[in-house]
Amino acid sequence: MHPLLGRQEQAAQAGLDPAVYDYYAAGSGDEVTALEAEAAWRAFRLRPRVLRDVTDVQLGVDLLGSRLTSPFVVAPMAFHALAHPEGECATFAGAGRAGALAVLSTRSSRRIEDVAAAATGPWWFQAYGMRDRALTHALVRRAADAGAGAVVLTVDTPYVGRKGRVSGVRISVPDDQYLVNLAQHLVPGSVARESAEQDPSMTPAVISELAEVSGLPVLVKGVLRGDEAARCLDAGAAGVIVSNHGGRQLDRALPSALALADVLAGVAGRVPVLVDGGIRSGLDALVALALGADAVLVGRPLLWALAAEGAAGVTAALDALAEDLRHVLAVAGAARIADLDATMVVGPLQPTT
Ligand SMILES: Cc1cc2nc3c(=O)[nH]c(=O)nc-3n(C[C@H](O)[C@H](O)[C@H](O)COP(=O)(O)O)c2cc1C
Repeated sequence: MHPLLGRQEQAAQAGLDPAVYDYYAAGSGDEVTALEAEAAWRAFRLRPRVLRDVTDVQLGVDLLGSRLTSPFVVAPMAFHALAHPEGECATFAGAGRAGALAVLSTRSSRRIEDVAAAATGPWWFQAYGMRDRALTHALVRRAADAGAGAVVLTVDTPYVGRKGRVSGVRISVPDDQYLVNLAQHLVPGSVARESAEQDPSMTPAVISELAEVSGLPVLVKGVLRGDEAARCLDAGAAGVIVSNHGGRQLDRALPSALALADVLAGVAGRVPVLVDGGIRSGLDALVALALGADAVLVGRPLLWALAAEGAAGVTAALDALAEDLRHVLAVAGAARIADLDATMVVGPLQPTT
């Protein structure tokens, strides 16, 4: 883990209500998947190139027709206002200053339009297919109007995973955060939190439905298999995010690091493939990008950065990751991310201890 990220997590843990810290940190079940994520990236080994001119290392990547200056992306995460009073507005102000794309969760605790106004860089909107689908439609339309560049449809959450760690001290998210984007669309008399629950009956048809409603490309997030990725592509997905939701959904699901190659094979270069889960350093990102990912998302470390130091902390964390990646790219003999390829990676190795 990058040392700054470790320091920010310590500061966040010291300052946050322990129930909020646990809610953010938790995985589902016994946390097998949540706890494996970081080690899974470390199990790969590198085959560096030599005598390449690496005096000028650039981190730019192309994604859905846009040029990004960094391959680090802020993962969509719920309720940033539990970490910092400015919530997602601070996160998105900080992310753009580091050149990072950010993805806004459907469970944002600040209004979509306010986050868009505070954002200093490009952003996408994460959607859940909610039981009241009109709510999802209203949110993706608002996101498109506010400037979102894409919709990220999270597909690994037909029901919210059971998190053993937090069941004793369940945090209750106040209505002014939970309903901040929903209240205006609720049908009078409906039970807000039920209408806004994830719809467990969704099928791939929802992909083209949301593309049509929003007018935006739709990426699917939460895919761990090549065959499932191909099924989403057949239904119109414009990209795939390999993710197990930070180990918060199906415990004992495969680490993303080990699922990535199969998804890349299923996608066969037709659309961008992003990955998240346990990315904590430049080397973790280098492995993911060399295996073939187009970009990497970072989750919990940015909540810790936000809690510890607000927008400036988010910028600092993303800058530190970018600087770390620039360094290891150079040492591995790659001046551009496009210079990386899967021949530079071997593994995963079996644990030796
Ligand atoms: C507190 C928390 C809330 C999250 N909320 C959402 C969400 O609303 N939508 C979503 O698609 N993913 C959500 N995720 C999953 C992240 O987008 C991402 O997949 C995961 O955190 C990446 O792993 P990492 O935290 O190890 O970097 C959440 C994760 C955390 C930790």
